[in-house]
Amino acid sequence: MSVPRLAVIGTGWWATTAHLPSLVDYDGAELVAVCDARADRARVVAERFGVRHSFNDVSALVAAGLVDGVIVATPHTSHHEVARAALDAGLHVLVEKPLTTSASDAWELVAVAESAGLHLAAGYTYQHTRTAGFVQRAVREEIGELVCVAAEFASGTVTLFAGTEDPSTATEPHPLTYSDPANAGGGQGHAQVTHLMGMVLWATGRQVEEVSCYLDHRGLAVDVADAMAFRFVGGGLGTVTSTGTAVGGQPPHQRIRYYGTNGSLEQDLLSARATLYRGDGTSISSEPAVGEPAYPTYAPARCFADLLSGRGPNLAPGRPAAATTAFLDAAYRSAASGAPQRVHARMG
Ligand SMILES: NC(=O)c1ccc[n+]([C@@H]2O[C@H](COP(=O)([O-])OP(=O)(O)OC[C@H]3O[C@@H](n4cnc5c(N)ncnc54)[C@H](O)[C@@H]3O)[C@@H](O)[C@H]2O)c1
Repeated sequence: MSVPRLAVIGTGWWATTAHLPSLVDYDGAELVAVCDARADRARVVAERFGVRHSFNDVSALVAAGLVDGVIVATPHTSHHEVARAALDAGLHVLVEKPLTTSASDAWELVAVAESAGLHLAAGYTYQHTRTAGFVQRAVREEIGELVCVAAEFASGTVTLFAGTEDPSTATEPHPLTYSDPANAGGGQGHAQVTHLMGMVLWATGRQVEEVSCYLDHRGLAVDVADAMAFRFVGGGLGTVTSTGTAVGGQPPHQRIRYYGTNGSLEQDLLSARATLYRGDGTSISSEPAVGEPAYPTYAPARCFADLLSGRGPNLAPGRPAAATTAFLDAAYRSAASGAPQRVHARMG
């Protein structure tokens, strides 16, 4: 197809901050429709971005036959149902992170997309940078056998988990999107560790076999601080430390270290910089290209459009995204049971 026709489902904070501004300014896609469970919101957003059609029901949108693909930016626990409806209608799908909140749902989306020959992508923005490509090549080709990974993600997300946002503004998510487990699944795990482990599993091309996890909810309904230790399928170990309490003047830290038998790699997600240290004492670094933002919020939607028109690769494919959901599913089970848990239902 030359220029894919797209719809955005869920017209809340992230869609209006990232995907809609990205697509209205991009001639590689035609933004045809928006859809939100709140009809008033869908209409207002359609007017604001000059989109012809607005829907308040996903089944009506997919039945209308107006689009080739959809971008799903609804709360976490709705991702599976919305994405499945689109795939069943023969549409390509980009789903925001996390792909779903359960392992079986995530692998099901991958299976349905693959058997129908449809593209499935996830909203892992960090994977859409020049440095992410450098990291993926270096981890797979330069550092030798992977020995262990240390991953850390601190952010100021605790205010989202507390649900203190003002729902009347378009610049903040609905207060219940991240604070109510019925919408969010978990807190820091599904909102942030998913970015971190999404990168680790995409870069390494590996899956996790078993994970042990501790969570601290700090009085809220969802987890705020997470600690995890895990073992990859085929060998290699890893740890995750993550907190949503980096508010005020505290600097967030979001970084991953990969240690191999021939070298190691330090990746800083916030600055989109990375350095490869080789066993022979040499090193090489990557940083954003001139004019490339460290966090390219516009990139996933445009990459998805380019994927559909055959002009670019899938930089956040469904399989590693599903492996990330499966990892988190096991991590949450581990925290609940107090015992290490196997990661479920990997596909071949
Ligand atoms: N990649 C990133 O960096 C990034 C950043 C922020 C948010 N996100 C993701 O974006 C998604 C949306 O988050 P948000 O902050 O915009 O939330 P939000 O609460 O601002 O918006 C969600 C919207 O979805 C609508 N909605 C809910 N259920 C629906 C359904 N079944 N069908 C249609 N519309 C429905 C709601 O009415 C609301 O307008 C989440 O998955 C979140 O994790 C990604």
